[in-house]
Formats: sequence, C-alpha cells, structure tokens
Amino acid sequence: MNHNPTSKAIILEHYGDASHLLWKDSPLSPPLDHEVRIRHEAVGLNFIDIYQRNGLYPLPLPTILGSEGVGIVLACGKNVHKILPDLSIGDRVAYGNDLGAYCEERNINAEKLLKLPDPIPSDTAACLMLRGLTAEYLIHRTFQVKEHDTVLWHAAAGGLAQIAIPWLKSKNVTVIGTVGAEHKKETALAFGCDHVFSSRESFSQKIRELVPNGLPVVYDSIGADSFEESLKCLQPRGMMVSFGNASGPVSNVNLGILASHGSLFLTRPTLAAYTATRQELELSASRLFNFLSSHPSVMKIHQRFSLRDVQTAHRALEERKTTGLTVLIP
Ligand SMILES: NC(=O)c1ccc[n+]([C@@H]2O[C@H](COP(=O)([O-])OP(=O)(O)OC[C@H]3O[C@@H](n4cnc5c(N)ncnc54)[C@H](OP(=O)(O)O)[C@@H]3O)[C@@H](O)[C@H]2O)c1
Repeated sequence: MNHNPTSKAIILEHYGDASHLLWKDSPLSPPLDHEVRIRHEAVGLNFIDIYQRNGLYPLPLPTILGSEGVGIVLACGKNVHKILPDLSIGDRVAYGNDLGAYCEERNINAEKLLKLPDPIPSDTAACLMLRGLTAEYLIHRTFQVKEHDTVLWHAAAGGLAQIAIPWLKSKNVTVIGTVGAEHKKETALAFGCDHVFSSRESFSQKIRELVPNGLPVVYDSIGADSFEESLKCLQPRGMMVSFGNASGPVSNVNLGILASHGSLFLTRPTLAAYTATRQELELSASRLFNFLSSHPSVMKIHQRFSLRDVQTAHRALEERKTTGLTVLIP
C-alpha cells in the first residue's frame, strides 16, 4: 500500500507549560519489519504526559507525547505476524505504554500492541490501557490485596481511580479514598469508595479512628504533599506504594522514618517494570480485558477534547479540574 509520508501530531520541542504543545506535520516512514502502521481512533490523556511535558521525566526533544491509544491497523511489517499471528488490516489494536500517541497516524512496535476485544469501545480503551494495566499490577503484583483488606487510595476521583476502585471493590476490599475538593467526593463514592476524606486535612487521624491498627497498604500517587501523612496510616510492616508525583516528587527520605512507623515497606513501582516482557504484558492485559468485559459500567468518559486542543486538556488535568477519564480524539 502507499503510506502517508506525514501525520499531523502534537510536537513538544521545549519543556514548559501547555502552550508548548504544538499541532504540526510530522514525517512518517514506512513501518519497519517489526512495526504496525495504525490510524488512531482515540488517545488517552494521562498525568505522565504532564511530567514529560514539563521535564520532570526528561525525554530527548523534539518528541511526540502520549503513551496510550487505540487505532486501526493500516499495514504490517514482514515480521509482525511472529508476534501477533492473527492480526489483519482493519483490526482494532490498543497499547498502554509507548511514547508517541498524540498523532493521527504512527508506526508502533508490534510487541507493544494488543488486539482489542469487540465489546470494549475504542474511546474508553484508549484511556484505560495505561491506567488499567497499572491498576492490574498495583493491586495484584506490587501488593496482593486480599478480600476484607482495607486500603487507602489517593486521588480517588481521578482517572486511575475510575478503574482501580471498582476492581478493588470486586475483590470485597474496603476502600478509603481522598480527594482534593468537596465536589469530587460524590465521584469517589460513585467509583465505589466506602469512605472519602479530604486530602487537604489530616486524613491519617480520620483513618486511625476508622481502623485503629492501621492499613496493610497505601496507594499514593500524590507524592510530596501526602507522603509523610500516608506513612502514618499504615500498620506495622505495612506497604507504602508511592507510584506518582501529582504534587511533586518525594525526595530526601530518611529511611529511619520507615523504622519509626513500624518496619514499613516502601516501593516506587513503574508500569514499564511490571510489563517488561511480552508474557507479562499479555497476562496483565488478559486480566484487564476480563475485568472490563464483566464490569462495563467502568467504561465511561468524563471529558472529551479534540487532540488538536490538547493544551486545554493539559491545563484542566494539572489544575485539578478533571475527574475520571479524559479522551483525546484525533
Ligand atoms: N507508576 C506508575 O506505573 C503509574 C502509572 C499510571 C499513573 N501513575 C500515577 O497515578 C496518578 C493518577 O494518574 P491519572 O493520569 O489517572 O491522573 P488523575 O488521577 O486523573 O489526576 C491526578 C490527580 O491528582 C490529584 N492531585 C493532588 N495534588 C495535585 C497537584 N498538586 N496538582 C495536580 N493534581 C493533584 C488531583 O486530584 P484531587 O484534586 O482530587 O486531589 C488530580 O485530579 C498520577 O500521579 C500518575 O502519575 C503512575
């Protein structure tokens, strides 16, 4: 087939605020032997896009941001069928961890792709790949949450919470959430939280009133603002899962603080490390697709933007104005 030699894309040339995200032509070569050419139907907006845009997670520039999306297969390199034997032109494919999603068309390594099951719509899948795979590893593999555990989940009205909280509830877990604004409490309760507190007040005290012996695990993606108070919520030998930096990175931790709170465990996990092999990616994705197929109510978009208007989407996410999932349509 004839390949488009360019695609429209959002290009980042310099780190900075959302005004640095520019809609431009980007050159596109024919797919290499292990690559698939796709046309995006939808792209997910994630908080990591902000860390990459502002330089907290440095990248070689210029670059195309965005790590997850769903697209239609336009062409396959000659070795693609070794990885995806039944892939055909016109199939819908999804990915959750490969830079370069903010564009109309792209080439992508077949190792990163998964065929999308029919019942899962493209727009929700586009923003539930990175988050869904993350929820899978955090609650099954970073810490194996058990029935009747009580856990703390921060940013409980956010995008990752939209899948993680129902997934925890499906395991009969009690979920305590925190949110940054009063109006977000309703969303966190709708996701399934049993209790919701403000992250702007002393939540550890409230949690100790509910669970005097402390929690087995805290999932903290807020980072700098919540780290120390999150530790106070844990039971001796509990697990602190610090997996994000929405308020800034956690730095200069004195390890003695883990001892003084009762021999705590601390981990800083990443999706890349938990889906490093094709086998791990396929296992994680099959759990995710099974969960989504049996819980279709999780698949709801809260905000929609055109990809061209990604600057507005970034501002909304970093100013804490969004809830749940945000999709970008090319
Ligand atoms: N390590 C991994 O593998 C991995 C993978 C995916 C995502 N993550 C992390 O998980 C978190 C959730 O990701 P998401 O894309 O679904 O985002 P999100 O939860 O939709 O948005 C982030 C939320 O963080 C809260 N927040 C607290 N302090 C903030 C501040 N100073 N500025 C902005 N927001 C603040 C806000 O909720 P409130 O206003 O309610 O506080 C905001 O809505 C992010 O931190 C992300 O980096 C980590």
